[in-house]
Amino acid sequence: MSPGALPNTAFQAGALERVISLFRRSYGTAPAVVASAPGRVNLIGEHLDYNGGPVLPFAIDRRTWVAAGAGEGFELVSAEPGFPAVRREGGGPQGDWSDYVVGVAGALGEAASAGARIAVASDLAVGAGLSSSAALAVAAAAALGRLAGRSPGPDSLADTAFRAEHDYVGVRCGRMDQTIVAGAADGTALYLETATGAAVTCPFPYTVWIMATGVEHVLAAGGYNARRAECEHALSLCRERWPRLASLAALDPDSLPEALARLPTPLDRRVRHVVTETARTRRARAALERGALAELGALLTAGHASLREDFESSVPEADFLVHAALEHGALGGRLTGAGWGGSVILLLPDGHEWEVASEVAAAFALRFGRTPAPWPARAAGGARLDLVA
Ligand code: GLA
Repeated sequence: MSPGALPNTAFQAGALERVISLFRRSYGTAPAVVASAPGRVNLIGEHLDYNGGPVLPFAIDRRTWVAAGAGEGFELVSAEPGFPAVRREGGGPQGDWSDYVVGVAGALGEAASAGARIAVASDLAVGAGLSSSAALAVAAAAALGRLAGRSPGPDSLADTAFRAEHDYVGVRCGRMDQTIVAGAADGTALYLETATGAAVTCPFPYTVWIMATGVEHVLAAGGYNARRAECEHALSLCRERWPRLASLAALDPDSLPEALARLPTPLDRRVRHVVTETARTRRARAALERGALAELGALLTAGHASLREDFESSVPEADFLVHAALEHGALGGRLTGAGWGGSVILLLPDGHEWEVASEVAAAFALRFGRTPAPWPARAAGGARLDLVA
């Protein structure tokens, strides 16, 4: 195990006690419930969940814990720097981190919306492309749902968290993050066809290395909603030619040249990303089932090129990390999550992982003046109740 994993292991061992003691210190009483939910990486299938295509995420072994107790109005504290305490009523979004919890309470309905006392601890970096927002929302849904006397299952947790983020916070996200964060099975990735909801659990006994670009993305304010609008516009133009086209991902790859010729730029490139990424993701699932890691790696790298050239959601830091990793022998790598910053995932050669990761980090430091800390991630389980008083 690499040095990168050690602080995290130590953090997790103490996280439950930490969030309980923060709750006690803040409110003078014990929490009624503690729930937690993991972050995620998406192996491949980027920007497909709102385009009707397949995705292949897994939950990682870093989590967010939410301790909750009854309250009048909402009081929230966090153990993490940069998350100041908030005291508020429900009402509309106010643009800080409490929106994710209050949005969840609203989505749960009357029994939860009067208020709650909340304490949060997390070892998921915010803005690192690892779904810290879905982890917070899903853990809050599990905790507040239980506080309201319910025991929501994974689908219901995912739906509540999705409505909070999409309808209340205003990020026009798809459902990939909430689905995997709520329902992941330990040691597996989830192949999900977002158009039909058909899901296949794929054993994933591998280690994926994560390196943060250090560029923090902000979804609601960033390019994400703009890209989604471009995709919707492209779909409406494609339907002038193919009236029954259900989604961009459903476009027949054989029709792609004709679509590209008809579409104005940059919509042509957005559509090319969606159609080629859909094909790559299906091939990646097949490669995974065969244990063909070199092939999987090549698909990840091609996916990154598509994000860089066609979807234009990458940043120079991510391009550098992927390029440097390949030069040092990585099997493949790509930017994961929404983009415009966040993290890259790398498949590194067996037995040389730490060596390659260190070389890439050193090259990055020379170019960008800061040293990223690579760390190995394994597929972990989804949301859970950690304590019910
Ligand atoms: C964010 C969104 C997801 C998905 C990815 C891109 O993580 O929350 O719904 O669209 O970006 O694949």
